[in-house]
Amino acid sequence: MERKPKFLWGTATSSYQIEGAVDEDGRTPSIWDTFCATPGTVTAGETGEVACDHYHRMPEDIALMAELGVDVYRFSLAWPRVQPDGAGKGNAAGIAFYDRLVDELLARDILPWVTLYHWDLPQALEDAGGWPNRDTAYRFAEYAAIAHDALGDRVRQWTTLNEPWCSAMLGYITGRHAPGRRDARAGFAALHHLLLGHGLAAQAIRDGARANGCSEGLEVGITLNLSPKTPASGSPEDLAAARWEDGLSNRIYLDPLLRGEYPADIADKLEELGSPLPVRDGDLSIIAQPVDVLGVNYYSSSVVAAAPAVQNRWPATTTVARDVERTAMDWEVTPEALTDLLLRLEHEYPGPAWYITENGAAYEDEPDENGYVDDADRENYLRAHIDAALEARDRGANLRGYFAWSLFDNFEWSFGYDRRFGIVRVDYDTQKRTPKRSARYYADRVAREKQRDKESGKEKALDTPAG
Ligand code: FCB
Repeated sequence: MERKPKFLWGTATSSYQIEGAVDEDGRTPSIWDTFCATPGTVTAGETGEVACDHYHRMPEDIALMAELGVDVYRFSLAWPRVQPDGAGKGNAAGIAFYDRLVDELLARDILPWVTLYHWDLPQALEDAGGWPNRDTAYRFAEYAAIAHDALGDRVRQWTTLNEPWCSAMLGYITGRHAPGRRDARAGFAALHHLLLGHGLAAQAIRDGARANGCSEGLEVGITLNLSPKTPASGSPEDLAAARWEDGLSNRIYLDPLLRGEYPADIADKLEELGSPLPVRDGDLSIIAQPVDVLGVNYYSSSVVAAAPAVQNRWPATTTVARDVERTAMDWEVTPEALTDLLLRLEHEYPGPAWYITENGAAYEDEPDENGYVDDADRENYLRAHIDAALEARDRGANLRGYFAWSLFDNFEWSFGYDRRFGIVRVDYDTQKRTPKRSARYYADRVAREKQRDKESGKEKALDTPAG
């Protein structure tokens, strides 16, 4: 394998958000196909049926990526393409697409970074109970083994899950995402089974790599969306509110993965509220096996205060708006919180290499007559966050890479095509791709940072007598 640079610069996407071709080559429906077909779920009734048509335009998309000069591309596999209905052998026709994608990337000197699950659960598995059903974790490990068998000779970077918070909370508790259930008990069961699935899949990948002689350079991990929660004041009520939110958003994932235990304050409270984490003996050691990489998706942070007590028994908290810029998602732009987050992670959860596996912003883009978007706002967002991430690295966080979300405008889940996160514009009528000003900025920044690393590497080599 080629030697990997010390710091990786990349872009990220996910299968359902860009591929389209939802019923080609043996792909079966995922929970997102079903959800989109349900009236009232997605803005304007939009779906991922065509999306960016990446399934048919993959080589040109990778050529475009190569022009940006990135080291690495983070993409996800559609489970219902690789293993339709989440059962049985791999589907050769579906796998062939990812085979070509990986080869195309390597031919362009771009490292392929696979995410196994970016939310497109085969509908058949949801029909069997979905993530609240423990068996789904075992099905996930089986799928991971199939995917690794097919691609592991060329792919060494494997992320099991993207943002289990979204799968559990938005999918099963608030119902904002597929499968659209609203059941707290099911949601916390889903959370535990997602983490168990992560552990089992990580084992399956490592076992497969050992058996097939492709362990060299293997990096296995998971991606979490972590969101700092700052207390609105030093009052005991606000401190407790922020601690609870931090527990539900961050610690309930970080603690089992990196310390082998759920945070007691949260687990006890969930039990009391009738939504226990269904942990069985041995689960936590599966979940907490060492990870090489922990991916952090960072977009924003929030200030939390205690809210006046409400009817139900859940701790009542509220978000306090700050007077800062907001993106089109109405998310506050808070780059400095990213520096603090990475330093906290290094301090409280040392061990893995950290990667920013997603960071970016939606703005109200206004294309000119050629489709060009002069998105100074997105450029500023990226600059501030890259600066903030590198500051944490310089102050000791073991940060090894950064991925811009997203390469393209794409299907933004329940917002449909109404929110644009791309550094490359996609005209959904013609499928024309046009790099925005932010893409030019990113390409230029990546080139400069790589040059700087090279020079400082050289200096170090000259400084050290032994070379
Ligand atoms: C993250 C998702 C990604 C995208 C961004 C904006 O939560 O992982 O697919 O939707 O948010």
